[in-house]
Amino acid sequence: MIAPSILSADFAHLAAAADAVSRADWLHVDVMDNHFVPNLTLGLPVVKSLHRATDLPLDCHLMIEDPDRWAPGYAEGGAANVTFHAEAASDVVQTARAVRSAGALVGLAVKPGTPLEPYLDVLVEFDTLLIMSVEPGFGGQVFMPEVLDKVRTARRHVNSGHLRLFIEIDGGIGTDTITEAAEAGVDVFVAGSAVYGADDPAAAVEHLRSLARAGMARCEQTIGRARGRAMGEA
Ligand code: DX5
Ligand code: ZN
Repeated sequence: MIAPSILSADFAHLAAAADAVSRADWLHVDVMDNHFVPNLTLGLPVVKSLHRATDLPLDCHLMIEDPDRWAPGYAEGGAANVTFHAEAASDVVQTARAVRSAGALVGLAVKPGTPLEPYLDVLVEFDTLLIMSVEPGFGGQVFMPEVLDKVRTARRHVNSGHLRLFIEIDGGIGTDTITEAAEAGVDVFVAGSAVYGADDPAAAVEHLRSLARAGMARCEQTIGRARGRAMGEA
């Protein structure tokens, strides 16, 4: 799935920005509070208005302190998926359950330097795992390929545990990086500058989707071969 990030769009014309990518899967909405990250964007009133203005499912990425308090409100406000940061939450399980009870999917986000291992056991409480491939806060940064090790770990964990979990990547995704992310096992690709910096955002979404599909097919071949070896096949 491709999730264009409106962080790179014109904030004075958000409804038009959503319309421009109407064939995308999710619309990624970056909520920043100037405390958890050194940038300030938008909050719940804008999310509610955007929900009324588009049919695209809203993928809200909360880069805020105290998500335990604020995350369920985004689910009530119409977000389809509400992702909060592991580093900011006091009780990730309780907050995940509160978001789900409010009717949305729930995601756990980890910054590039945050290990996955402490959270593997709680992933059953989540629908998405967002692996940041830049330091959160700004669009247009350079992709950090080292986070793909976490993607591969998550992919193995999801497949072996039969979890229903989308693995999402966010930061520096474009035509030059999406294929390797897909090969590592990503399902949902956030792209800000690669979509809204393009002359034709809709065409950029389709191009990214085709590159991601090719990478995902190779990821499945790799998994199939590993499974074959594990079962003693040639
Ligand atoms: C960064 C945000 C991203 C951002 C990605 O903190 O979470 O969603 O919009 O922008 P690009 O795709 O330009 O790296
Ligand atoms: Zn984001």
